[in-house]
Amino acid sequence: MKKPAHDINASVTMQALVFHGVNTLVLEERPKPVIKEATDAIVRITTTTICGTDLHILKGDVPTISDGRILGHEGVGIIEEAGKGVLNYHRGDKVLISLITSCGRCGFCKKAMYSHCSHGGWLLGNSIDGTQAEYVRIPYADTGLYRLSPEVDEEAAVMLSCILPTGLECGTLNGQVKPGDIVAIIGAGPVGLAAMLTAQLYSPAEIIMIDLDDNRLEVARTFGATQVVNSADGKAAQRVMALTQDAGVDVAIEAVGTAVTFDICQAIIAPGGRIANVGVHGKPVELHLEKLWSSNITLTTRLVDAGTTTMLLNMVESGRLDAKKLVSHRFKLSEILKAYDTFANAAQQHAVKVVVTIGDDAK
Ligand SMILES: NC(=O)c1ccc[n+]([C@@H]2O[C@H](COP(=O)([O-])OP(=O)(O)OC[C@H]3O[C@@H](n4cnc5c(N)ncnc54)[C@H](O)[C@@H]3O)[C@@H](O)[C@H]2O)c1
Ligand SMILES: [Zn+2]
Ligand SMILES: [Zn+2]
Repeated sequence: MKKPAHDINASVTMQALVFHGVNTLVLEERPKPVIKEATDAIVRITTTTICGTDLHILKGDVPTISDGRILGHEGVGIIEEAGKGVLNYHRGDKVLISLITSCGRCGFCKKAMYSHCSHGGWLLGNSIDGTQAEYVRIPYADTGLYRLSPEVDEEAAVMLSCILPTGLECGTLNGQVKPGDIVAIIGAGPVGLAAMLTAQLYSPAEIIMIDLDDNRLEVARTFGATQVVNSADGKAAQRVMALTQDAGVDVAIEAVGTAVTFDICQAIIAPGGRIANVGVHGKPVELHLEKLWSSNITLTTRLVDAGTTTMLLNMVESGRLDAKKLVSHRFKLSEILKAYDTFANAAQQHAVKVVVTIGDDAK
């Protein structure tokens, strides 16, 4: 039965994708969220998507997620209700949801480290209910939301909730990609590809993409990768060294989150190089300081702050950044388990980013 989604009091429950422990997801009926603080807004989700981090959650790599949590930290929607303290948004406004909640006032926010906000950080689909649902409660709505024009392409916009700021901030900016650099990106998933699209803004000489998935490597090639390496035979590092005449790479961006891929970064980094870790790690890695101590290496880690969202949104709106090309598959909320299956089996399904639309007016 179709719900009268525009009548705020019409329904007290909603459909939501709920985590019930390792490898257990259920699409179930849950209470519709309500305003708890004056600075909250309730957003009716029209487009959401699945992140590699959600796959890590499913595997049990992110211990902060409890049984019963609604997943998802990416989304576009319409303001259903704004708390009395929300100044920038009103009912009916179209908004992009950032994965990072920030109060805008604490010490970390004042240092632009929004991901470490004393009252926020990565909360959505982590320590509070997330966006893979018909409605979501957004704390500090004024800082966590971005206004979208009614004409904006929602599929392009939703790429800015997480993966593009992540690729840019944790990969390209932390890796200090410069004109003429040789950049290797390990992992050609949506985040690795987002790192690649943003690295291209800085004119590197070479971008070498490494993955196990030939389809994603082919996608990377069409996006402008100068070399692609399939690492299934365990010889990616040797191949990259051969491609660089044994010099190694200036920047190695780790966009997977495993010990094996972190090792590849350590094996291929040139003296003076930067290893930018992006991947979420569930297990320890071995740090080879016995080899790297004398190589003037910079190693960075980061939880995305999403401070670049406005800049990225400007680039999407002007057509300078084609974010929509990351989308390979589209599903309805009723098919979200299939969407997870498709994304988790990306190589067989030829998937990059899968988008889930919710409600009749999603576009
Ligand atoms: N630091 C942050 O703030 C932040 C934010 C968002 C996502 N992430 C993390 O970024 C990572 C990538 O996210 P995604 O959405 O692209 O995930 P994804 O799972 O879609 O992509 C990971 C890719 O890594 C490839 N891969 C796996 N093992 C490999 C190996 N041994 N060699 C080469 N490639 C291999 C897979 O084939 C896949 O294409 C995840 O770990 C995610 O949790 C971090
Ligand atoms: Zn994410
Ligand atoms: Zn703060």
